[in-house]
Amino acid sequence: MLIAQISDTHILAPESDHPAASLRGDCLRRTVEDVNGQRPDAVIFTGDTVQHGRRAEYARLRELLASLEAPLYLVPGNRDDKKEMRAAFPDYSYLPASGEFLHYTIEDYDVRLVAIDSTSRGERKGRFCEKRQAWLDKTLGGQPDRATLLFIHHPPFDVDEHYVGGYRRPEEVRALEDIVTRNPQVVGLLCGHVHWLVERDWAGTQARIMPSIAVDVRHGIDETAARGQPIYLLHLLSEGPGLVSRVRRADASA
Ligand SMILES: [Fe+2]
Repeated sequence: MLIAQISDTHILAPESDHPAASLRGDCLRRTVEDVNGQRPDAVIFTGDTVQHGRRAEYARLRELLASLEAPLYLVPGNRDDKKEMRAAFPDYSYLPASGEFLHYTIEDYDVRLVAIDSTSRGERKGRFCEKRQAWLDKTLGGQPDRATLLFIHHPPFDVDEHYVGGYRRPEEVRALEDIVTRNPQVVGLLCGHVHWLVERDWAGTQARIMPSIAVDVRHGIDETAARGQPIYLLHLLSEGPGLVSRVRRADASA
């Protein structure tokens, strides 16, 4: 199974006077075109889809995503507004229509996809409260023998000095780590938020953070070599090695 991951597009409304409004739209447009060429089975979007959680930004996002050919699975970031996100994607039936959290499972593939909502209104840092802990524990416990890929906006570990204590409550990070450690069917955890490319072992599985699609806010990339191209990740999931990830530059020749 091939999964494309995109993240942190921070889309602005067309009428925004932010200097990067047009650039960010262009980054996502180029990424969508390139993803289509790779023919993934699914696309996972790890949050911060828009900059301010505004309706006009979601309308622009929706336009930019319209030509994406593979099924798209969204999880919110701290920049997203869950009410507006739900309203912008009413046809995405996997998004819970009500309730506090936009978490869900996708059972349509060989690998089970589990989206975790790490956001709370008005909170920049991650949250993984007891209700979410209970949901994930039960969800993973229900199918212990099925390969499962998790995705979430906030990484549950520090990244150098740039991202330290990313969750409001450290005990919630430990709870997430405990649940995943108890579930060896988890083949990986995909994250956004940090805007850096990071690969590491975590909780008995492999974690990935991807650079932001918005090139004006990404970090840790050789910008001379990248030549302003948006960068995203392709993840190949298989029985043997588990999660094999590679960096793909949008617009790069195949
Ligand atoms: Fe972000």
